[in-house]
Amino acid sequence: MRKILIAGNWKMNLIPADGAALVDDLTARSGNWPDVDVVVCPAFTTIPAVALRLGGSPIQLGAQNMSDHDSGAYTGEVSGPMLLTVGCKWVILGHSERRQLFGETDTSVNSKLIKALSLGLKPIVCIGETLEEREAGRTIETVSRQLDGSLAGLTREDANQVTLAYEPIWAIGTGKVATVEQAGEVHSAIRSWCKEKFGAETAGWMRILYGGSVKPDNAAALLAHEDIDGALVGGASLKAEMFDGIIAAAK
Ligand code: 13P
Repeated sequence: MRKILIAGNWKMNLIPADGAALVDDLTARSGNWPDVDVVVCPAFTTIPAVALRLGGSPIQLGAQNMSDHDSGAYTGEVSGPMLLTVGCKWVILGHSERRQLFGETDTSVNSKLIKALSLGLKPIVCIGETLEEREAGRTIETVSRQLDGSLAGLTREDANQVTLAYEPIWAIGTGKVATVEQAGEVHSAIRSWCKEKFGAETAGWMRILYGGSVKPDNAAALLAHEDIDGALVGGASLKAEMFDGIIAAAK
């Protein structure tokens, strides 16, 4: 009942010409794709060039971050209404790199989330523990705290629009993928949290993606777990062949 979602987070890579070439290559391969949602999230300056190529493509467009304000004196920020004007339907919020390198907190993620929902942008909210937290046995406690803060004040109706992404920080860009057992345990705990907070029906609809060193050769096993509803892909989303291989693994 939950449609698989495969999202590519291009991070700070690919200038407009390279992003456009990548989506052209992906669109050319899309005839063989299973029935999944596919989203790419380019850097802000690459978004318009990619948007121009997506007519007739099944690929949807997202951004990697947004402001919690609509406009005004916020130097260096990009707002949700601005993202809508260039064709974004999705936005990643609270990625661990934003949290670790740019001071984002559950509170700031929460205000961005409320803003995104008010604008009709579909948020992908990221959570995940550090290696230290995992080794101390505090994984579930950590993601529960992040969920409590990041999703504070949401109604059931709001929650229906939210996609979560569990990205253990120790697995991001390291080649160390969580085992299906490790990821599955956390995904199931996240689903239980959602059930407690929003009820069984909403929890049953909410998609929970896994992120962290997803590649074509480990995607099928992860996606086969009943509580893993897709992938948020970094490095492997920059190469058409790899991203296509991950999408194909959702069959
Ligand atoms: P990698 O797939 O490069 O590990 O990155 C994961 C990620 O951070 C996606 O948001």
